[in-house]
Amino acid sequence: MSRVVVTGRVPEAALEKLRTEHEVDAWKGPESIGREELLRRVAGADAVVSLLTERIDAELLDAAGPQLKVVANVAVGYDNIDVPACTERGVVATNTPGVLTEATADIALGLILSATRRLGEGERLIRSGQDWKWGMFFLLGSSLQGKTLGIVGMGGIGQATARRAKAFGMEIVYQSRSEIDPGVAAELGARRVDLDELLAISDVVSLHCPYGPATHHLVGAEQLAAMKSSAYLVNTARGPIVDEAALASALRQGKIAGAGLDVFENEPSVHPGLLGLENVVLVPHLGSATVETRTAMAMLAADNTLAVLSDERPPAPIN
Ligand code: DGY
Repeated sequence: MSRVVVTGRVPEAALEKLRTEHEVDAWKGPESIGREELLRRVAGADAVVSLLTERIDAELLDAAGPQLKVVANVAVGYDNIDVPACTERGVVATNTPGVLTEATADIALGLILSATRRLGEGERLIRSGQDWKWGMFFLLGSSLQGKTLGIVGMGGIGQATARRAKAFGMEIVYQSRSEIDPGVAAELGARRVDLDELLAISDVVSLHCPYGPATHHLVGAEQLAAMKSSAYLVNTARGPIVDEAALASALRQGKIAGAGLDVFENEPSVHPGLLGLENVVLVPHLGSATVETRTAMAMLAADNTLAVLSDERPPAPIN
């Protein structure tokens, strides 16, 4: 029997699955586990099931000890994990691709609609108690039909977002490290372009690339200036892909029309310059937040853990 440390609250079904074969030490506190407590708990663990709020670095891996076999992140993004440090120590790192694709694409489309149709502004107006009535020019937004969606990072979530946008009548262009499956490109009528062209021609730019040194501040002042002044930026990937200060300034100056953000550069903080702006929709990292999706993510992390502890290849290895 191995010892599995779970660094935060996850659906009970996943804990039950792990408990059928192993001893499970799961953090149950309402707040995130503190760093000190985390370092103390992982000592002697064979497996760590981690949430994206926990940093899994060399210090933590060393605190766990040489018997550690697997770090199973309950997220598709794994910028919280130092993967080379895992590899150096022979620790398998895993993530949860696939199971949150549709839920995240739903939120991306939701943000596209909320930003372009000014739903947040309308909601705030009604709740403020101000007088309002239907008017020909009242809270006019921008239609999606016939507009161009530029997807940055055309993996599963990018493609699922494109599929939804196509149903709303949008044309799709994308920027990606590689060509996508020609059948999918044909189904979506999607054309691959470079980032400069994508920024120049898109009416909505939606970010779906992973975060890392290569994508840090991929969208900054220069890229925002290259977008149409009528365009919108949506980010459901990772906050630091966007220079939040530059975005706040571009939105304030009307360099772009609006934005929808599910992720932030220094979560859970949000750049103060964004908070007072009407033309940005802000939601608290809800991309995968459905009961079904979070359960599927936790179950996949449990499957990854059980496989490595049985010396089998896990369903979703990173290294
Ligand atoms: C992920 O899995 O990376 C998401 O950000 C979680 O919501």
